[in-house]
Amino acid sequence: RKVGVVGCPVHHGQAKPGTEHGPDALREGGLIKKLMGLGLDVHDYGDVGTPSHEDDHHFDLPVKNPKHVATASENIAADVYNVIKSGRTCLALGGDHSMAIGSIFGHSLAEPEHVVVWVDAHADINTPLTSSSGNMHGMPLSFLVKELQPYISKLPGFEFIKPCLSAKNIAYIGLRDVDPGERGVKPIHLSFDIDALDPSLAPSTGTPVPGGLSIREGNYICEELAATGRLTCVDIAEVNPSLGNERDNLITVNSALSIITHCFGGRRQGTYPKNYQIP
Ligand code: ARG
Ligand code: MN
Ligand code: MN
Ligand code: MN
Repeated sequence: RKVGVVGCPVHHGQAKPGTEHGPDALREGGLIKKLMGLGLDVHDYGDVGTPSHEDDHHFDLPVKNPKHVATASENIAADVYNVIKSGRTCLALGGDHSMAIGSIFGHSLAEPEHVVVWVDAHADINTPLTSSSGNMHGMPLSFLVKELQPYISKLPGFEFIKPCLSAKNIAYIGLRDVDPGERGVKPIHLSFDIDALDPSLAPSTGTPVPGGLSIREGNYICEELAATGRLTCVDIAEVNPSLGNERDNLITVNSALSIITHCFGGRRQGTYPKNYQIP
């Protein structure tokens, strides 16, 4: 299998500096080597551009940094689209969760039928009007869901987005009652917010919430999704190496690497050696 890594070093979707260092923290933690160790053909496309803007506020709405989020999203979408079109599964490294605007939209340009699995402590489907924080990492799905468009105000720079997801094609973990007709065989986009894990396992993140998933639960979700053979794009969001101490960082990066490897063929029972023939 072929994987394309796209760094999405964004932080303007929330207020705590540091998520822009997420992609490099994961690379420095040994990400590429680990993926190659699983026998994958890995290409790292580097980081997308994140242009700066002055006067980035909205006059009527409490939305923070819309232009920063918009231009980065457009760049993320283009890279994710190109990676998937070249026949690789895309691994998009965040960055705060506003990264998913671009990754999901870019994925949809290549695979219009895709569905989304959103693993997160938060629903991230606030509209600019319902958000009380104004932070766009709490809003990404609202720009993409068709049914919500009557409630979405036009924000500067977001004209490029065409809503690409039906509400029925989003699964929040843990969903536990799906009818046969809802199943389908569609390509899957996994958007994994590291704060879905328990804060003891991912302390370096901006909006930790107690009572989260264990590593075993997180890895299990990823193994099952990988086993469908239909994962075409994976986001890993909200790793913030600027929060907590060195030990917190190490724990968080290792948790993220574990989640990622289990999306790409890693199994808790171990993997077969390279070129192993099942007898
Ligand atoms: N619901 C809150 C908000 O809208 C928190 C969102 C946190 N999102 C995240 N991707 N960590 O601001
Ligand atoms: Mn910046
Ligand atoms: Mn979250
Ligand atoms: Mn999130």
